[in-house]
Amino acid sequence: MTAKNESWGSRVGLILAMAGNAVGLGNFLRFPVQAVQNGGGAFIIPYLICFLLMGIPLLFTEWSIGRFGGKMGNHSTPYILDSMGKKSIWKYVGVFGIFTNIAVVAYYTYIESWTFIYVFHTIFGTFTGMSKEEVSLFFEQYVNLTGSDLGIQFLPVFIYVLILGVNVYILSTGLGGIEKVAKIGMPLLVLFGIILAYQGWTMGANYASAEFPNANAWDGINFLWTPQYSSLADPKVWLAAAGQIFFTLSVGMGSIQCYASYVKENEDIALNSLSAGFTNEFVEVLLGSAIVIPIAAGFLGLDWVMENAGFGMAFQTMPYLFQQWGSVFGAIAGVSWFGLLFFAGITSSLAMGTPWMGFMKDEFGWSKVKGAVSFGVIALAMGLPTVLFFQYGYFDEYDYWAGTVSLVVFALLEIILFAWVFGINNAWSELNRGADIHIPVIYKFIIKYVTPVLLLLVFIGALFTPEGNDWSGAISALLNGHLFSLDSSSLISKITHEDIKAQILSNPENSEFLEKKMWFSSLARTQLIVLFLAIAAIVWYSTINRKKSFL
Ligand code: PHE
Repeated sequence: MTAKNESWGSRVGLILAMAGNAVGLGNFLRFPVQAVQNGGGAFIIPYLICFLLMGIPLLFTEWSIGRFGGKMGNHSTPYILDSMGKKSIWKYVGVFGIFTNIAVVAYYTYIESWTFIYVFHTIFGTFTGMSKEEVSLFFEQYVNLTGSDLGIQFLPVFIYVLILGVNVYILSTGLGGIEKVAKIGMPLLVLFGIILAYQGWTMGANYASAEFPNANAWDGINFLWTPQYSSLADPKVWLAAAGQIFFTLSVGMGSIQCYASYVKENEDIALNSLSAGFTNEFVEVLLGSAIVIPIAAGFLGLDWVMENAGFGMAFQTMPYLFQQWGSVFGAIAGVSWFGLLFFAGITSSLAMGTPWMGFMKDEFGWSKVKGAVSFGVIALAMGLPTVLFFQYGYFDEYDYWAGTVSLVVFALLEIILFAWVFGINNAWSELNRGADIHIPVIYKFIIKYVTPVLLLLVFIGALFTPEGNDWSGAISALLNGHLFSLDSSSLISKITHEDIKAQILSNPENSEFLEKKMWFSSLARTQLIVLFLAIAAIVWYSTINRKKSFL
């Protein structure tokens, strides 16, 4: 309340910062893997529909409530939401908008640190002459802290702390610093992306080998771009598509609202939100799909890609493949790839720091330096266990609860607040105030009904995923008086650890490791809950603080 308003330097800076927020590791690592795992062309239609019916309406919502809150001097979701709804519960719903950012940044900067060190490994030729297996093992040893990279066993921990420190430093310089990084990082990222995508599009079958005679990059491209309509009836694909839209657009997090709270009062948020959103989709759909999958298919064939598609491909496979292009171009490709990931990552992780800093400044007058350093300390406390216990799934636990489930819950609550409590007519005029473009009126209807219902369906779908994802089978069983049996991937089974228990039953020889995993999973959850409650307590304390300053 006391804060003097900081704001973005220019419209270009704002859009680049917002696009930088959205364009992240999700575009280059998560999207291609999700697409392959969900049937390639079968994924694309649900994905695009989710973009239009959930992504865009949520972008409109978040930009609008952010600008609205900012006008009243609020820069993070607890009081932004509070300024729109009368009940004090909204303040606590807003806790999500700080919580998820801190929990996600904790592991996100860890991946960012891998991309950083891999740029140097490429430059120094660490992977030169290594076999495919050796490159893959190198990564495993790195994340399991069992290697001695550059002769240092705990190098991953140091690099992680270093990257977190770089984030803290940039954050301490405020919006100006964030804008500067976006202005440098975004164009470079697109340039690197184009270099790699060009390779992906042009390598064709030129790199087929005796071991992989059928390798052809075009198979990868065709697989992603041949639409298949059969999947439209499969809820699993829809859930995956919705999840990807959330993650890639950064909606349901609180960081867009925070960025938007620094725009000028009559800034055209309708056009700006669409520009940033479409930039993200352009990068994701055109560049994100043209790199890992086609290049891997070009060397190893589509069958290999389908069997091995996973997050590790970027670090375990790509460095090996790049070398096949010879030492000079191989190094250029490697630097482009890891450099691209690094810039994509850092412009996103910076966004995650701003809600906490904004809150502490608004409520307690904390300076940027104090805000940034305290953010770094909390992120480190949350993140160190994800680094140390990576192999026990600590990281995945954060990604599931904070990086996936929380986003859907928060998005659902905020859109209800916006369209139903604040009221759709107010919401619509807030969105359109100062806009040069004309948003089709159908979006008024979509924001009020379609998006909330879809969000609810996504949430219910995740809560009660039936065994084998067989919805029609499960529902007809239920109608016939049988039990609805849950899949181990359902949210409910995860809460009770049914998923790990089932694994223990089927792999008794592995039970010691799995028991440990279960233990660490509980620890990770406890840590997340403590973080949430601690932020809620700070929000509660701020209410007392506000009352005092009125006296
Ligand atoms: N959208 C980012 C990505 O695609 C992730 C992110 C989520 C960034 C939330 C900021 C806030 O990687």
